[in-house]
Amino acid sequence: MHGRGAAFLASAARPEQFPCTPWPEIAFAGRSNVGKSSVINRLLCRQDLARVSSTPGRTRTINFYQVSEGRVFVDLPGYGYAKVSRSLKEAWWSLVETYLTQRTQLRGVIHILDARHPPTPQDRQLQSFLNAIGVPAQLVLTKSDGVPRGRRAAVRKIVAESLALPSPEAPSFFSAETGEGVPELWRAIEAYLRAPAGGAGKEQAMQKRQHPDSR
Ligand code: GTP
Ligand code: MG
Repeated sequence: MHGRGAAFLASAARPEQFPCTPWPEIAFAGRSNVGKSSVINRLLCRQDLARVSSTPGRTRTINFYQVSEGRVFVDLPGYGYAKVSRSLKEAWWSLVETYLTQRTQLRGVIHILDARHPPTPQDRQLQSFLNAIGVPAQLVLTKSDGVPRGRRAAVRKIVAESLALPSPEAPSFFSAETGEGVPELWRAIEAYLRAPAGGAGKEQAMQKRQHPDSR
């Protein structure tokens, strides 16, 4: 069963604190409070492995969780939280940028959006950043329990237009409340984990890029 044996591994506020592990990693990214930690918990059938909070912007470190069978899930700090200083935003982004561009264990990013709201400019910036550095990313529309079935097609269309996606089918719906989308997301994750280590294009990202919180 997914999640049996999953355990907290490390919390990093600085790149030197990234754990020295050989296992492939999947990172979960998205704006503050979008539901990243809840997606991890739901995938692993665990209530509280990754800390969930009702206060946005609580995750300030990169948190690593070992999933059984020698894989690692990585909970990234969220972007777009207005009530923190610019210098703190810069510091968080610098940490995330270092992780995304230099972590050789990284196989793919699960980019989480809120199904109930249109993508934000920061969501678009993260998507372009991941494209530019060549890291595969799967878009997931979480909190789908708040979107009636009759609105799903319209939501997909808005997201596809906003992010200039080739197909509106690309993002999948997910709910940490109901479990919708869990098997589909596991399939995407397994495919990333099976893929050979990439890294192509990551060097380009070391050139300074506009980050999602710079507006
Ligand atoms: P930060 O780490 O602070 O950036 O937040 P996060 O992105 O990890 O979000 P988190 O998982 O902590 O969830 C934020 C809030 O959204 C919590 O109150 C959750 O209970 C709620 N939430 C998360 N997923 C869902 C979902 O699928 N449906 C609904 N209705 N609420 C959800
Ligand atoms: Mg979190």
